Amino acid sequence: MADRRDFLKASLLGASAMAWAGQAMAGQTMASTSAKTKQAGGAMKPRVISTWDFGIAANQAAWAVLSKNGHALDAVETGVQVPEADLKNHSVGRAGYPDRDGRVTLDASIMDADGNCGAVAALEHIAHPIQVARRVMERTPHVLLVGDGALQFAQEQGFKKEELLTPESEQAWHEWLKTAHYQPSANSEILDYGRRDQGKGSLPGGKDNHDTIGMLAIDAQGRLAGACTTSGMAWKLHGRVGDSPIIGAGLYVDGDVGAATSTGVGEEVIRNAGSFLVVELMRQGRSPQEACREAVMRIVKRRPHASKDLQVGFLAMNREGEIGAWAIQPGFSYAVCDAAKQDGLVPARSVY
Ligand code: GLY
Repeated sequence: MADRRDFLKASLLGASAMAWAGQAMAGQTMASTSAKTKQAGGAMKPRVISTWDFGIAANQAAWAVLSKNGHALDAVETGVQVPEADLKNHSVGRAGYPDRDGRVTLDASIMDADGNCGAVAALEHIAHPIQVARRVMERTPHVLLVGDGALQFAQEQGFKKEELLTPESEQAWHEWLKTAHYQPSANSEILDYGRRDQGKGSLPGGKDNHDTIGMLAIDAQGRLAGACTTSGMAWKLHGRVGDSPIIGAGLYVDGDVGAATSTGVGEEVIRNAGSFLVVELMRQGRSPQEACREAVMRIVKRRPHASKDLQVGFLAMNREGEIGAWAIQPGFSYAVCDAAKQDGLVPARSVY
């Protein structure tokens, strides 16, 4: 069922995107040999991938760095700032939907191939949490700063304190308060259409919750890096932190193996150390696609309700630049960008 749906969607993407979709479909064999980025002579072809359709524009910003022989770490930090700044995007950065108290709290992490990493969680009033995460990585002996401490650090670093709740997001929050029905949710065809059909959507506008952007890149020197940033679940409890800023959950990079990132219901990703699991599976010899599928199945096995109301997706890249993805529900897509094509979008395969 999911296979057919993926194929139909791929058809709609147009001929050029079909190359990428074909790569995803090739993963059915579970032995993807597709699109290695190693060039003759040992140099790597740079490539960047990221979650959801908003990843296309984010990738293009990252590509501006990679295509000039830039560092993968700079590329991912630059790329994810595009959705962080996008006022139409209500799941990342400024204009993100607030928590149930009306506060926009942001989570972000960044990691390089050598195990260096930094993250912020429940950070308010700073437009680009990914920049603060990188400062945590490079200018402190720590990995994760949270809440007021993260804000204090950001201000000490010269970041401007701003209001991130836009009138549109505030209005959506007021709408939600009328019922205050809370069901952690993430984008998938089934879940979003389900909510709309039932007329009790937790997100105004229905199919609007694109969730986290996770981005992985490999540069011309073969260096891997990843970044992940989100405003988290809309209407969450104040203080709730998802998978995105948790190294090993929402993001993990190991230069000897590969990198992984996640999207969807963060609690399930944290419970299973999801991105670390994907990288470890690649270390054991799985392709990126196989590793993502196995990590998803680990979650599904523990959660009998997964078919009805749970979405988690993983995206991975190995040190050869091969890529893969898998999700519980249909609807997860990922953007792919390299020298051949800068606006590819691939529907991920799914369990259901
Ligand atoms: N995956 C984003 C979150 O759960 O916050």
